[in-house]
Amino acid sequence: MPFPTDFAWGAATSSYQIEGAVEADGKGASIWDTFAHTPGAIANGDTGDVACDHYHRWRDDVELMASYGLNAYRFSVSWPRVQPDGRGRPNEQGLDFYRRLTEALRERGIRPALTLNHWDIPQALQDRGGWQSRDTVERFADYARLCAEALRDRVEWWITHNEPWIISALGYRLGIHAPGVKDTEAELRTAHHLLLSHGAAVEAYRATGLAAPVGITLNLLPTYPQTESEADARAATLSDGYTNRWYLEPVFNGRYPADMLEYFGDRFSLDWIRPGDVERAAQPIDFLGVNYYSRRVVRAPRPDEQAEFAWVVRTETTTGVPTSDLGWEMTPPVLRDLLVHLRDTYRSPTILITENGCSLNDEIAPDGRVHDPRRIAFLDGHLRAVAEAIDAGVDVRGYFAWSLLDNFEWAEGYGPRFGLSYVDYPTQRRIPKDSFAWYRDVVAGNGPA
Ligand code: FCB
Repeated sequence: MPFPTDFAWGAATSSYQIEGAVEADGKGASIWDTFAHTPGAIANGDTGDVACDHYHRWRDDVELMASYGLNAYRFSVSWPRVQPDGRGRPNEQGLDFYRRLTEALRERGIRPALTLNHWDIPQALQDRGGWQSRDTVERFADYARLCAEALRDRVEWWITHNEPWIISALGYRLGIHAPGVKDTEAELRTAHHLLLSHGAAVEAYRATGLAAPVGITLNLLPTYPQTESEADARAATLSDGYTNRWYLEPVFNGRYPADMLEYFGDRFSLDWIRPGDVERAAQPIDFLGVNYYSRRVVRAPRPDEQAEFAWVVRTETTTGVPTSDLGWEMTPPVLRDLLVHLRDTYRSPTILITENGCSLNDEIAPDGRVHDPRRIAFLDGHLRAVAEAIDAGVDVRGYFAWSLLDNFEWAEGYGPRFGLSYVDYPTQRRIPKDSFAWYRDVVAGNGPA
């Protein structure tokens, strides 16, 4: 297997999905605290109030990672733990949690990858417009600087945002994630401020003099037309423009894709895009974080059909393609093609796979263990795809399985289980699944056997 010797083998989590302790030690409310407590917002009325109680059990969780040989771990900082009001002096107790965590990780030889924004921004900022407000851009840059100064020399990789498209589309157009807005122009404005704040945060980070690599994580959705018709091809191009290129082009080339700018420009004023903004989003970065779960197959809408936008209908799963228990198609070879495409299109960026995994209806078997052969097959297939991409010359430096633990899966609550470790929520017991034992061997062998 072609994995470099210092390849990062890790697992990923995020603050709201695992920490719990939502009011501990001076933490302010986040938009996810508010949203999860909105009746009807989350399946089964679940909230992240307790989640995996990682805020209290972090030592055990670090031990768990160490005992399975991980050499890297991706987590996120809860912004309202660190700045309860989203501005001003830091809450040292909040920072201490991440100081202790990163120190313990380093002692165990586990390299920390820190995400600044995995969605749970301070409610106090939301009350002033959240990502729709341009002021949040500078607030985010301050927060980035503050984290960099507090955690300097402990963090190996810095990530500004996690999945800006998901934030914008699910939080602001579809309203199924916090803050629950349903407005397409709000979505685009949010995306713009996220991109701009990414650039501003990278500038602020660089100004601290830190040398550790900094980047952004995008969820990329390789998009294919359902048929060879011209209309379906156009649907695929626009869908790709909307989910992928709208973020990749600003980050790497300092411009929005021309076709999409024309499409949206016909419908909205876009007057919140100011001269110099998109260029600012294109600060040089050291790596691109790629979250990959599945592909998209799309077609043009029929004349009488209500479509997601005017151009595209997502098709149901394709016959014969295996799916996770959330119904997501499992298509490992697509990851290889995606990585090669990124290399060819965006000047060969260094890549970390910052998330990849699948949700299965895992259960504790009579022997007390959790047998998840489908997850092993899923991960194995994707690692082979990564290996093929490396063989083809793509510079991939790390892989983080989603997730270390079963956790709060946003609007879906605790139903879906993505973890390498099963979590028995009533007792908070962690039960490493068969896939975790398999992954331990992968890490030890620097690649699947
Ligand atoms: C990604 C999120 C992550 C998790 C996985 C399943 O979109 O970044 O928090 O919910 O999906």
